[in-house]
Amino acid sequence: MYDKYNRRINYLRISVTDRCNLRCTYCMPESGIQLMDHADIITYEEIVEVVQKSVQMGIDKIRITGGEPLVRKGIVDLVAMISKIQGVKDFGLSTNGITLKKHAKALKQAGLQRVNVSLDTLDPEKYHQITRLGHVEDVLEGIAEAQRAGLNPVKINCVIKKSSQEPDALEVAAYCKKNNLQIRFIHQMELNMGHFSVVEGGDGGDCKICNRLRLTADGKIKPCLFSNLEYNIRELGIEEAINQALNHKPKCGTANTKGSFYNIGG
Ligand code: 5AD
Ligand code: SF4
Repeated sequence: MYDKYNRRINYLRISVTDRCNLRCTYCMPESGIQLMDHADIITYEEIVEVVQKSVQMGIDKIRITGGEPLVRKGIVDLVAMISKIQGVKDFGLSTNGITLKKHAKALKQAGLQRVNVSLDTLDPEKYHQITRLGHVEDVLEGIAEAQRAGLNPVKINCVIKKSSQEPDALEVAAYCKKNNLQIRFIHQMELNMGHFSVVEGGDGGDCKICNRLRLTADGKIKPCLFSNLEYNIRELGIEEAINQALNHKPKCGTANTKGSFYNIGG
């Protein structure tokens, strides 16, 4: 499918939960976040229907995100359901890696092709400072297990403050080189202020070539991360919600004043 600006849209990112087992300082406040009502969270059946419909409409690339997708109960079952859908050519998941060690093998067996793992620093203390709750060893073990399980490629998402040459980023880059991992640098952003930038080593954040739609964990199709536009699949029906998102996809992002990464999906 093509949008008004003749961009070919073939990529759907699905946020399966707004919950997370970390509290990264750049993503969430330490406490007092407004989480979605459990009743509003899309069911796996609804997600499967959205994937089926969007594949019929021209989507062939799917990524599962969160919050942290691996905290949602039965996530491996969802992966199995999606991987069976004819026409899904590229199927990945983005995770903070905290529980990846436990899940990697089952995810691979369920048909997941690849994973992106967030890793901003190798320093255990700094990692704990940034994530407030996490231990970097868990992530490193998760990454190693993902590689052993045959998830391929394993990519690392490294959030940087200013530059990919800052010390933590350089350390993560050296670790990636040594361990055969692809790295992407993501500039720390302020969604609500309209500060966004391209992903170094990836193609996110570049409006001219944007090929994506998003499904939020409460069942809304969003045409752009940097905009408040959203179309509810329960109110409009899946096909109509996708069509409206497609037809209203902005030429370029502006600002998102309502959502955050954890409830839209990074
Ligand atoms: N700026 C940039 N990326 C962010 N993420 C979350 N919050 C931000 C932010 N403020 C993204 C990162 C992280 C993923 C879980 O979400 O890519 O690795
Ligand atoms: Fe969780 Fe990712 Fe947000 Fe960190 S950045 S709190 S891992 S959703």
